[in-house]
Amino acid sequence: MNRRTLLAILLAACAAPGAHGQAWPNRSVTLVVPFAAGGPTDVVARTLGVSMSKSLGQAVVIENKLGAGGTIAANAVAKATPDGYTFFIHHNGMATATALYRKLPYNPLTDFEYVGQVADVPMTLLARKDFPPDALPDLMAYVRSNKERINLANAGLGAVSHLCGMLFQQALGVELTTVPFQGTGPAMTALLGGQVDMLCDQTTQTIPQIKAQKVKFYGVTTKKRIAALPDAPTLDEQGLRGFEVVVWHGIYAPKGTPREALERMNTALRTALRDPGVAGKFAELGAQIVPEDKQSPAGLRDWLKAEIDKWGPVIRSAGTFAD
Ligand code: MLT
Repeated sequence: MNRRTLLAILLAACAAPGAHGQAWPNRSVTLVVPFAAGGPTDVVARTLGVSMSKSLGQAVVIENKLGAGGTIAANAVAKATPDGYTFFIHHNGMATATALYRKLPYNPLTDFEYVGQVADVPMTLLARKDFPPDALPDLMAYVRSNKERINLANAGLGAVSHLCGMLFQQALGVELTTVPFQGTGPAMTALLGGQVDMLCDQTTQTIPQIKAQKVKFYGVTTKKRIAALPDAPTLDEQGLRGFEVVVWHGIYAPKGTPREALERMNTALRTALRDPGVAGKFAELGAQIVPEDKQSPAGLRDWLKAEIDKWGPVIRSAGTFAD
């Protein structure tokens, strides 16, 4: 028996009902968010956290651990003590980092336990309010003829804003200057302040800015129009044929986390996804709750594995590496 397995057994014994007179959780649970506070991943985590705290009877505390497109947080969680009090929410970056980073210090398929998937979120292509083009066809022409002068913000290599921006540049055959932030929360602040030109970001952050007309908005990255922005065209229907990026989120824990904690977190997640407060906020922000089979540990693990297999060859053939 290795040290990690022994530790997990001891921790499970401590977490068992009766060990300290109280079952798990007997203190607050940490949910690590790999990007800045106020951004789209943070919004999803905090919305879930409020509801999950109620069903767990303990606070779910959000910890924003920033850097390297989410990989710093993923590595810290992979190496955290598996005591049932550390959980992690991440998106597509959990899969794409395996190809983007050739020396990734953790393995998403062997260093984690899986709680379940949360929601799928469309992205939106935006520019600062005073950016000249008004619609996607004009934007495409404008970007092609001004490529040396335009910059594109993102949340670092491995972020979905990076992936979306990379696909946009590839579709237009241009290479723009990219400006990395530690989350699209601060990237949005820079866009609103006119310090950067363009940003591709999740609806969970962008819908309020789009509705308040504080940004130029060129379309959604889904194949079909979305209920939260019914009049907004897709990028695909305006000429960027086949352009599709959908962000998916999952909740993880360090390998060896006690079974009871994983099961209770899964129940709390499923309860939150049925909570009208969570469902209403997600619907308003364009986040579509995943079907019940994906809300399971196996649903998340199988999806992650499929995404690693899908994106690995694409990223390796594009030769875009972070290290
Ligand atoms: C991303 O681009 O990966 C996310 O929007 C990052 C974030 O939540 O800030």
